[in-house]
Amino acid sequence: MIDLRSDTVTQPTPEMRTAIANAVVGDEQEREDPTVLELESRAAAFLGQEAAVFVPTATMANQIAVRILTRPGDELLAEENSHVLINEQGGPAVLSGLVMRGLPGLHGRFGAEQVRSSVRDWRSGHMPITRLVAIENTHNSSGGRVWRLEEIDDIVETCRELELRVHLDGARIVNAATALGMSAAEIGRRFDTVTLCLSKGLGCPLGALVAGSAELMVAARRAKHLFGGAMRQAGIVAAAGVYALDHNVDRIADDHARARRLGEAWAAAGLAVDPEQVETNFVFLDVGPLGITTAEASARLAEAGVRLSDTVHPTILRAVTHLGISDEDVDRAAELAPRALGAARVHA
Ligand SMILES: Cc1ncc(COP(=O)(O)O)c(C=O)c1O
Repeated sequence: MIDLRSDTVTQPTPEMRTAIANAVVGDEQEREDPTVLELESRAAAFLGQEAAVFVPTATMANQIAVRILTRPGDELLAEENSHVLINEQGGPAVLSGLVMRGLPGLHGRFGAEQVRSSVRDWRSGHMPITRLVAIENTHNSSGGRVWRLEEIDDIVETCRELELRVHLDGARIVNAATALGMSAAEIGRRFDTVTLCLSKGLGCPLGALVAGSAELMVAARRAKHLFGGAMRQAGIVAAAGVYALDHNVDRIADDHARARRLGEAWAAAGLAVDPEQVETNFVFLDVGPLGITTAEASARLAEAGVRLSDTVHPTILRAVTHLGISDEDVDRAAELAPRALGAARVHA
């Protein structure tokens, strides 16, 4: 089976397992775990921030950031299909008491003018205080699309002018940085807080970081404990993160090249894929023109040995490359999927 459902399906490599087995550990809650401390300081530098806090998941990292940047009753602005709005069970409302407002986006991005015109006039005494803007780079539900630095700067400058806080859901910031040809720090340093996920392209079994100023990270550590995320000998998993920062960052470019090649092959075979939209490790495949549902397409593909997954878009499936996908896997998927879906007929 060629599993292209997500970059979260990776298995730790033998080398990563060795790093895990050899980890020196201590009580993380007491800040006595040297491996967690090492990962936190490495990740802070990697993200261009003063400090970072290790947590089990990117969802928790986002929710901690949202919590420490707002007060109950405040308003959060984010793109309407962003992970923090639609895939975290309403966490900002439940865990931080926020009003959540989705901004329409194009490929997951929105403009500074949209932020400006959405900010509410709190002086009226009736309205929630618009406090926080969150952006997602790369943007998952739009197909791993990338915010450019100028777009980020526009949003961040506007947020500063309007006295809004700004969070980056950089679960896939390494993919964004690779696509833009710059360091993750160059992107991350612009924000109040940044989330980094270790269990996506970086290939760890679990783990994430939230980063920001030293002062904000004191608050983040408290929120982590409140949310049940303070751990004990967590160096066992942090070791995978240290290993990934050393070994799995540069290889992300291979995932992007493979996704691009897969997209081009499927498009050439007559499937509805736009290779120009493959900016990182996601390929969007529209099965609408084939006259079948995504459920039927997924079933046919699985039978042929290729697994894709659904998206928020009713006719679109996605393929995501990751460290478990080789060039040979791409070649096979390039052949198997069009055949399973009857693309040649569509072509004719
Ligand atoms: C953009 C983005 N943010 C956050 C998350 C949350 O990650 P996790 O499910 O590991 O908590 C995901 C997971 O897919 C994601 O795509």
